[in-house]
Amino acid sequence: MVDNFRLAEIPLGWYTVATSKEVKPGQVLPVKYFGQELILYRTETGEARLVDAYCPHMGAHLARGKVQGDTLRCSFHGFEFGGDGRCVRTGYGKAVPRKAKLGTWPIREHNGFVFAWYHPERTQPDWDIPVLPGPKEGWTNFRTRQISVKSHPQETSENSVDVGHFVEVHGFGDSWYNGDLEVEGHLLKHAYGIDYLGGKLSLICNFKVEVHGLGYSLVRVNTPRFDANFNLLILSSPVDEDNVIVRTAVSLQNWGPRAWTYLVREAASIGLNKEVGQDAPIWEAKRYVERPILAEGDGPIAEYRRYCKQFYAQQVEVKTAKLPVVAA
Ligand code: FES
Ligand SMILES: [Fe+2]
Repeated sequence: MVDNFRLAEIPLGWYTVATSKEVKPGQVLPVKYFGQELILYRTETGEARLVDAYCPHMGAHLARGKVQGDTLRCSFHGFEFGGDGRCVRTGYGKAVPRKAKLGTWPIREHNGFVFAWYHPERTQPDWDIPVLPGPKEGWTNFRTRQISVKSHPQETSENSVDVGHFVEVHGFGDSWYNGDLEVEGHLLKHAYGIDYLGGKLSLICNFKVEVHGLGYSLVRVNTPRFDANFNLLILSSPVDEDNVIVRTAVSLQNWGPRAWTYLVREAASIGLNKEVGQDAPIWEAKRYVERPILAEGDGPIAEYRRYCKQFYAQQVEVKTAKLPVVAA
């Protein structure tokens, strides 16, 4: 897992591969994730599918393929592949080779994102990610921004438990960890507070974090002074072992007039994206320290590291006793 101060394996889990808007009915979108060339396409009836990029017949890249009704048709010899990846007809109109099957990836689509399940052995998903409230439930849809970073999902997701960097890197007035960390299988929850401005101006926000694997962190934010509620998503997707796309997304519970709600959402989205931009140079330049020297004031880093072990197929021994834990 750890190779020369870098995390050298892509952890299993759910990862965002596109926003729903990026792939329209009939569209074929080449994407690269998990160190692999992939094709995201949407059937004419609206179903999104993620498949391997290379045609099993003679290896054409399916970025040049076409959606035909419910199938993806290769532009080389006209083989057509259905939702389960099987070839349903060839361009010759003759018998279909039984072995002609395109690799498929499990996906989920909700809240305006297409998520794919990654497991190095391509198993089916063990767990799901939450469906969050949207316009029908009195929340806005998500405003999304993205940034490409030379980093790893475990490093970028560690940010949400690294309470200690908020003041130093992001310039907040104060931050504190509430100490109520819970781990239930793939889900890690904890809570912290930030005073954005500090001093007499004091703008306190309460954060409840849910880490659903290393590609999907949900942060529920409440701002008592304005009685505003936000759902923030930090979605880190591995392009390969050394590069991620980090998407930030903000949804806001309807708050006053519609235009005002959207203005606040936009400001929050710009702010969150700016914070990731402040983290990015640190992520890019840092090395991975497997046994950090933790100090009072750090967030629950040791607990997070233990939680992360379950997402590696080549599991290393869990060395809990050797990780320094700071007394509460
Ligand atoms: S390579 Fe795709 S149909 Fe021949
Ligand atoms: Fe940060």
